[in-house]
Amino acid sequence: MKIRTHTCGELKSKDCKKSVILNGWVNTVRLHGQVVFIDLRDRYGKTQIVFNSENYAGDFNEVKKLSMEDVLSVSGNVHKRENRSINSDMSTGEIEVYASTMEILNHAEPLPFVISDRDSAEEDLRLKFRYLELRTEELQRNIEIRHNTYQAVRGYLSKKDFFEIETPVLMKSTPEGARDYLVPSRIHHGKFYALPQSPQVYKQLLMISGYDKYFQIVKCFRDEDLRADRQPEFTQIDIEMSFIDEEVIYKEMEGLTRHIFKSTVNIDLPKKFPRLTYDESMDVYGTDKPDTRFGMHLIDLKKFTDISEFNAFKSTPCVRGIVVNGGAKYSRKNIDDYTNFVKKYNAKGLAWMKMESDQLQGGISKFINIDIQKEIIESAKIENGDIIFLIGDQKETVLTALGALRLHIGMEEGLCDPNKFNPVWVTDFPMFEYDGDSKRYIAMHHPFTAPQTKNLEDLESEPSLLKSRGYDLTINGYEIAGGSIRNHKPDFQSKIFELLGMDNEEIDSRFGFLVEALKYGTPPHGGIAFGFDRLIMLLSGSNNIRDVIAFPKTTSASSLMDESPSKVSKDQLSDLNIKVVNKNK
Ligand code: AMO
Repeated sequence: MKIRTHTCGELKSKDCKKSVILNGWVNTVRLHGQVVFIDLRDRYGKTQIVFNSENYAGDFNEVKKLSMEDVLSVSGNVHKRENRSINSDMSTGEIEVYASTMEILNHAEPLPFVISDRDSAEEDLRLKFRYLELRTEELQRNIEIRHNTYQAVRGYLSKKDFFEIETPVLMKSTPEGARDYLVPSRIHHGKFYALPQSPQVYKQLLMISGYDKYFQIVKCFRDEDLRADRQPEFTQIDIEMSFIDEEVIYKEMEGLTRHIFKSTVNIDLPKKFPRLTYDESMDVYGTDKPDTRFGMHLIDLKKFTDISEFNAFKSTPCVRGIVVNGGAKYSRKNIDDYTNFVKKYNAKGLAWMKMESDQLQGGISKFINIDIQKEIIESAKIENGDIIFLIGDQKETVLTALGALRLHIGMEEGLCDPNKFNPVWVTDFPMFEYDGDSKRYIAMHHPFTAPQTKNLEDLESEPSLLKSRGYDLTINGYEIAGGSIRNHKPDFQSKIFELLGMDNEEIDSRFGFLVEALKYGTPPHGGIAFGFDRLIMLLSGSNNIRDVIAFPKTTSASSLMDESPSKVSKDQLSDLNIKVVNKNK
């Protein structure tokens, strides 16, 4: 095989007359009688090759039989294209290579889908042939951004004295919120390792060991329900620091995030990221992951509906609305669709009024007299041509449903500018959430998060009112990173475990080693973890996490390409002393 002198994305008019060798895949073939044009492709780009039977030294019949994705080594000379055939969309569009010889390194069978037209195939088919999908320009670009992000992170943090330290993949099962992936031990019958949901405990132990600035680009595993931005195995940029507080974390992480955006996609993020408390974010955006690229804020309308004739909202503790500019255009069918949309979030219905001729009209407007209407119009800044949607219910339902509708309409109306990146810190989360099903408190971040109090007694008196020292970094409605200042005092940590419903025995068996470690001189510390894949989604402009992972899983946590998970042999099971029981029996 003749080894390439250049890549397929490299040759320019300055290279004219050079004798070159290119290696790559046949992207397209065009037959014009005794002249055959092919675009030869590799991950750097495409080059047009011209085979002319008059000056081609090899067997021209072979050239005529070339098909897409054949792998070639082509020798030839670089020529400037005629002006009318210059292709400014291609990095090599000024030139073409006149082939003198060609070796077919490998033939490709007819393909299950066309590489240059990724959208022509269903995702399942593309995932089955993922190695082919990875040849597409879009995925190659995403993988390049991913590569550049690894380098940007490592370079930036190393310069700032962070050590990259690996932590175990086989660890003790200490579920953090999701289910663990378990690995049976052959040597210790009946015992299991867990795959880490995150290296949380290890990174805290590293602080106790004196490695005051740690990072790791690390795989995490969570057996949870999957969505467009979730994978069962995903990557984090995991970070922990000692002798710091929230302000240090914000400053350092803003620096890292700015550096990543600048060095990978040349985007300037603001010098200081805005902050919202959890309560503010929920009140205004109906979510703790606010997309602040557009307004359409949630407005409290309870005081108006209470004095109106619209009785359905009188008994509900919370009534909020959103105003969609220009929304008076919505048809009955549009409104029905939005009503069905909010029902998925447990809202019972969706009330509405349109603003036309300086008045609220249609929907529930007949139950609201002119004076109250005026107050609503003024307070919600409604203009002619707008529509206001209202939901009344329990506060949590109202915020969640209206927040989701806001985002849905924002997307539909093209209000989410894809070139705009709005980072926001969300702070002051509640320390605990009460879980009605299990009738106990659960930690809103994780149990290692410190409360906003130095008094142990405060933890006992009103746990539901306590705020935590946790924070999330969100960008354009995605939770990009989450972290907290930790409990570095053993009594605080033990008390929190207790409040989470663990008795001494359970604390000891699950986290005894951590509580003990905290006793031996633990520095105040805290950290954060970035969802690496989500970050790459944003950088690459994708809204599907599978587009930024080389070999992702489907939403049912399987790999269509290698068909995992799969059955294992009886011998393997017997080594592990495991018997598979048929669930239906
Ligand atoms: P947390 O659970 O918030 O925090 O995770 C940190 C970030 O990881 C990303 N993420 C995911 N990405 C893809 N698929 C998933 N299934 C998935 N789950 C989470 C999110 C999230 O913000 N140990 C703590 C961090 C800390 O306290 O320092 C932790 O893991 O972007």
